[in-house]
Amino acid sequence: MEPATHGLRESATFDRATIHAIQRAAETGIYDIRGWGAKRKLPHFDDLLLLGASMSRYPLEGYRERCDTDVVLGARHAKNPLHLATPVTIAGMSFGALSAQAKEALGRGASEAGTSTTTGDGGMTPEERGHSKHLVYQYLPSRYGMNPDDLRAADAIEVVLGQGAKPGGGGMLLGQKVTERVAGMRTLPVGVDQRSACRHPDWTGPDDLAIKILELREITDWEKPIYVKVGATRTYYDVKLAVHAGADVVVVDGMQGGTAATQDVFIEHVGIPTLAALPQAVQALQELGVHREVQLVVSGGIRSGADMAKALALGADAVAIGTAALIALGDNHPKYDAEYRQLGSAAGYFDDYQDGRDPAGISTQDEELAARLDPVDAGRRLANFLRVMTMEAQTLARACGKAHLLHLEPEDLVALTIESAAMARVPLAGTNWIPGAGL
Ligand SMILES: Cc1cc2nc3c(=O)[nH]c(=O)nc-3n(C[C@H](O)[C@H](O)[C@H](O)COP(=O)(O)O)c2cc1C
Repeated sequence: MEPATHGLRESATFDRATIHAIQRAAETGIYDIRGWGAKRKLPHFDDLLLLGASMSRYPLEGYRERCDTDVVLGARHAKNPLHLATPVTIAGMSFGALSAQAKEALGRGASEAGTSTTTGDGGMTPEERGHSKHLVYQYLPSRYGMNPDDLRAADAIEVVLGQGAKPGGGGMLLGQKVTERVAGMRTLPVGVDQRSACRHPDWTGPDDLAIKILELREITDWEKPIYVKVGATRTYYDVKLAVHAGADVVVVDGMQGGTAATQDVFIEHVGIPTLAALPQAVQALQELGVHREVQLVVSGGIRSGADMAKALALGADAVAIGTAALIALGDNHPKYDAEYRQLGSAAGYFDDYQDGRDPAGISTQDEELAARLDPVDAGRRLANFLRVMTMEAQTLARACGKAHLLHLEPEDLVALTIESAAMARVPLAGTNWIPGAGL
């Protein structure tokens, strides 16, 4: 019997996933930990549309007229800013959460597409350094894998204050992934759960952060751009403080942002959507007179060239991707469906990155599983995906009459819903109404 066709009605409040969550909690007595980002429906870039040109605007010819894509990140203070061929970068994902092969593949794919990749909680591996043309080195509250030699070996430094999936929370790597190599890099015992700090021990506020950033500049001879990454919450204030502390680049990671592992309750209930954070960040930069001088990188649920084009139109200088990059490498591929099912999941649903049993060889430290991922092949898939994202964004930008992706502007956008209009601060389609504007 199909319940729905027999008049049985599912509760919107106690839907099947909720019932299952209660049953799971009652049986186990522990909260749910998982990877990936928020799964609830949130206002997002899908709720915006671009206004292509017609009579009042002049479009550019698809295959004949240029639409440039290059972007420079970190020129505010650094001697060697990053010159990227496309404004989509690979977000920080740790070796530990990911296999060495996956890290290498991210470096290969990003380099082939002319963009940067980022280390993560756990330090820099020789594989990723060797295969990444532009490597951003994360400086995290945990300080795992932190050493001045790696700082100097990096092309930029990202001070991580938070992530969109868990603003206010620390790192988590469960014991099954803390192998000898991972433990060695993090100075931890093998096989024991790691729960790392939610705030940096080196400073207590923005004034101290300014000192820390100065220290990082001194160590690296003022060569490398310094990024500051925040999870999206009080974004307007956080961005202003990050700029005051001396950031060359601010990274804002919205609530849809992925994670390797944290409590489900955290992922679904803390932070604000990427769409809501972005205009706040742009406003903060504009008020300080540094919009475009301090670059804004936005992440959290970016999946396509359309998302990228819309984020750029709202004022971002670049976007960063995590989950989409893993999918491009081969994560959640249908060919592993039977194995995902053996783990109690299915292809398209596998979010148990913390388990370390990823059949795709990506979110695992199991040597046999990791060996399934060919870094060359996976890197090529990622490069293809990055190229497609870039071409999609160019297609949209040309249609809006723009000869560079960064020429896209809020004026090119309208919103489909009142919520997204209010958050993105663009008019509801067919009107000139921006809810909340002028308040
Ligand atoms: C497997 C995985 C591991 C991650 N590890 C880190 C990390 O070590 N440090 C960090 O700042 N963010 C980490 N993140 C978050 C990403 O840097 C990024 O903010 C997020 O994935 C962007 O959202 P998206 O996945 O929707 O693209 C991780 C994300 C994933 C999916």
